[in-house]
Amino acid sequence: MLVNDRQRLSQDIGAWVQQYGANRSALLPILQEVQKKHHHISDFAMQEIADYLDIHPVEVYSVVTFYAFLHETYHGKFVIRLCRTITCDMAGKDRVARQLENDLGITFGETTPDGTFSLEWANCTGMCDQGPALLVNDQVHTQVTPEKVQEIVAACRRSFSPAATHGENPKEAHV
Ligand code: FES
Repeated sequence: MLVNDRQRLSQDIGAWVQQYGANRSALLPILQEVQKKHHHISDFAMQEIADYLDIHPVEVYSVVTFYAFLHETYHGKFVIRLCRTITCDMAGKDRVARQLENDLGITFGETTPDGTFSLEWANCTGMCDQGPALLVNDQVHTQVTPEKVQEIVAACRRSFSPAATHGENPKEAHV
């Protein structure tokens, strides 16, 4: 990580500490902010947060590793998680998975070179009666077909285009 990146990250964390408070209960919201803006939570970020909140870095690390939506490594702006649990499996998740891999040009566990998409497996999201189900960041999509995959991916790309994100933070785009 470059010095400027570290300074920016440190400034961001300082601002979130101001916003949420310099105490233990601020830990999760601050981690969510770091994840949202920087797409992962680095060792440096964990140490900075621990220093600001005056807690042990191991405590920060244990929270990061506990929650599936927090990542130590870089993830794309859109993290697509396809349910692979039995009901979605029987409902046709393999066809959906193949379409996702074709459209994105990556396999599960990878991030596109431009940092736009990450593709991951998920376990049951509670939408079993409407499978196959997938999540795009925090948005649930149900009864997903290969055709619907193409629409979902296209909508992500549109929402992240310069015209669509003019004047707003593209990283917070939802589809
Ligand atoms: S099995 Fe896929 S949402 Fe429950």
